[in-house]
Amino acid sequence: MDIQAIRQDFPILSRKVNNCNLIYFDNAATTQKPRQVIDATNDFYSNHNANVHRGVHTLSLEATDLYEQAREKTQKFIKAKTPQEVVFVKGTTEAINLVAYTWGLSNLCKGDEVLVSLMEHHSNIVPWELTGKIGGFKVKYANVKNDGTLDYDDFESKFSAKTKIACLSQVSNVTGIINDVKRVAKVAHDHGALMLVDGAQSVPHLVVDVQNLDADFLAFSGHKMLGPTGIGVLYGKREILEKMQPFEGGGEMIKEVEFNQSSGCSISWNDLPYKFEAGTPNICGAVGLGEAVKYLETVGMDNIFCHEKELTSYALERLKQCSNVILHGSTDVNGKCGIIPFSVKGLTSHDTALILDNYGIMVRSGYHCAQPLHQQVLKLQSSDRASFYLYNTKAEVDRFVEVLKEIGAA
Ligand code: ALA
Repeated sequence: MDIQAIRQDFPILSRKVNNCNLIYFDNAATTQKPRQVIDATNDFYSNHNANVHRGVHTLSLEATDLYEQAREKTQKFIKAKTPQEVVFVKGTTEAINLVAYTWGLSNLCKGDEVLVSLMEHHSNIVPWELTGKIGGFKVKYANVKNDGTLDYDDFESKFSAKTKIACLSQVSNVTGIINDVKRVAKVAHDHGALMLVDGAQSVPHLVVDVQNLDADFLAFSGHKMLGPTGIGVLYGKREILEKMQPFEGGGEMIKEVEFNQSSGCSISWNDLPYKFEAGTPNICGAVGLGEAVKYLETVGMDNIFCHEKELTSYALERLKQCSNVILHGSTDVNGKCGIIPFSVKGLTSHDTALILDNYGIMVRSGYHCAQPLHQQVLKLQSSDRASFYLYNTKAEVDRFVEVLKEIGAA
């Protein structure tokens, strides 16, 4: 991997923040966009913009073609069997809400249980709590060990005949810890339950193969993998999606809406995946996502994973030598993606992030949309988080560590 060549593709990386070279370590929140993605979205609006699946004119056909090509690229990227299994949504949050409100409310009732882990970000907790209140089913939480790793024994022991779905992130957005979702999917299926994998932090960084994982659902966001905001994916096994009710009603998700004075309105749903894509979709976002997938594949997901691992290992070793820095969660780089939660002694997480910003370094502070993990497991109100991607370098890590040491000395 030629990191310097990769960096040249990202215009934002050459800007200064507070007169310093930008060091962008907030990739778990959102990633920067390469010229190729920016150009593809620009080209779409400059040359091909029209609505999809609705027109017979040239522009509509071109837009439809680009939109469906993006779906096929995404399908191949996650190794889904067919493009019909790839539903374009706004992002991970909408994908999980779609499953909770459609599959959940139609299939779960009083006495049933949804099993999630305590390390989930709010997108994989709140939709289940909300729908559980409507549908009368219960959300059960599997424990996480003090070092942030999943307590598999506890997770597996909480399965019962009542469990109808298990929901687990493949990579924690706070600690970067990688969960063995394939193992949990097997246990879920042995109990007749489905498996939803939250891939928000895994699809951008690892090779994810939905068939190999045997995931029933996979949710992820385009903006965390070099694509635009407002576009993401719900993957679902075809036979499950076929049986589900639509999430939203409107144009494009129907085959026919027939009105008859005596019997009223009769509606039949469109085929997959359009049944779940009501209204005009985020066409340009999908085009950008397709280009992001192409970019990631050209670099190679294995290469990206190795680069991040090397960078994380380097950063952890250097940070362990900073007496004013506290590292949170497991520092075993073998079970981790490029995410490092930390605190600086004597400073709140927001103060640390603001001081780093003065030096042009962007990290996230707070509880990273994962309050239960912070409070119940890590016993923290908040933390700082440095998260890496393919364009980050050891030189940036060196500068980060140097600044953290300066902060400590101040
Ligand atoms: N869940 C996103 C994060 O971890 C927003 O920052």
